[in-house]
Amino acid sequence: MKQLKAGIIGLGVGEQHMAGYQSHPGCQVIALCDLSEEKLKEARKKYPRIRLTDNPDDILNDPEINVVSVASYDNYHYPQIIQAIKNNKHVFVEKPLCLYEEEARHIYSLLRSRVDLKLSSNLILRKCPRFIYLKKLIENGKLGGIFYVEGDYNYGRLNKITHGWRGKLDFYSVVYGGGIHIIDLLLWLTGQKIIEVTAYGNNISSSGFFKYNDMVVSILRFENGIVGKLAVNMGCVSPHFHSLSVYGTKGTFVNGLECGLYFESRDADRQPEKIYEDYPGVHKGALIYDFIDGIINKSTGAIPYQEVFDAMSVCFAIEKAAGEKNKVKVEYIQEVNK
Ligand SMILES: NC(=O)c1ccc[n+]([C@@H]2O[C@H](COP(=O)([O-])OP(=O)(O)OC[C@H]3O[C@@H](n4cnc5c(N)ncnc54)[C@H](O)[C@@H]3O)[C@@H](O)[C@H]2O)c1
Repeated sequence: MKQLKAGIIGLGVGEQHMAGYQSHPGCQVIALCDLSEEKLKEARKKYPRIRLTDNPDDILNDPEINVVSVASYDNYHYPQIIQAIKNNKHVFVEKPLCLYEEEARHIYSLLRSRVDLKLSSNLILRKCPRFIYLKKLIENGKLGGIFYVEGDYNYGRLNKITHGWRGKLDFYSVVYGGGIHIIDLLLWLTGQKIIEVTAYGNNISSSGFFKYNDMVVSILRFENGIVGKLAVNMGCVSPHFHSLSVYGTKGTFVNGLECGLYFESRDADRQPEKIYEDYPGVHKGALIYDFIDGIINKSTGAIPYQEVFDAMSVCFAIEKAAGEKNKVKVEYIQEVNK
């Protein structure tokens, strides 16, 4: 099997990518990068055989490296992705892909000219066992025709935006940072495109500490008539949780703190099925095995890049709608003739 060599930029969540790469026999992590001397010191102890650097160029320009994990702060994703692609590297990027629509369009056009390269993003809820179970319920017709979906990204860690790097960036979007996970789930579960959105937001929870919306709620219109609601709620006084409800003509799924519920009846005396599949129950490196396998075996692998752009396209529309307080059509970043 061809041995791919990977490098990781950013050792926060990026450190968890290590386990993903190492789980595949066809891949080896050979270099790690972080701007922080403290992070590098810790890494030196944990990974004495792996090359360490505080300069991302040492990874992005290294011809020996075939795959790069971009897990730096959001504002660095775009330039690092571009540099990686131009230097013939496959890219596994943390969400969000980038911060601006024109950046996404640039990345897309470069990828179109490099069909030999793969890009995917860590939209990790697709690996959550409870949501995989839900996907199977839908595919097996157990919910019937879906007509309404709603999901909340309840962050429950307000300090991340009021006191960490997120609040210091020139621009930060909670929709791109958190809402994208739910948007991707809704697109994946329904198999339908969202064509139009409205949105409102505020920053009452983080007032004085964070200049962007920390709360955004959006109404979604799908191409086949499904309606949906997304809420991204960074200020909630409750633990981190992805609330998700899917309403179909034959059944309803509701994600709960203790278990998921699957209702097959409107009769209050009929107990719903309790779904104890793990939630979130997923390691942050869990998509990487498929990503590497996709490169080696030329299979679909992890989330195809078009689906990453689809989720980003919806996020761009929601952010725009929240800014304009108006409805916005989703402009999908895709091949023109699609
Ligand atoms: N998929 C998920 O569920 C998930 C979860 C958390 C974070 N993230 C994403 O991961 C990225 C990092 O967030 P985090 O929570 O790990 O932050 P973090 O602060 O915990 O860690 C980020 C690390 O990256 C380093 N870094 C930042 N920019 C760098 C650069 N240009 N070059 C080298 N090192 C750099 C920092 O020094 C820091 O050590 C963000 O884009 C975030 O949105 C994704």
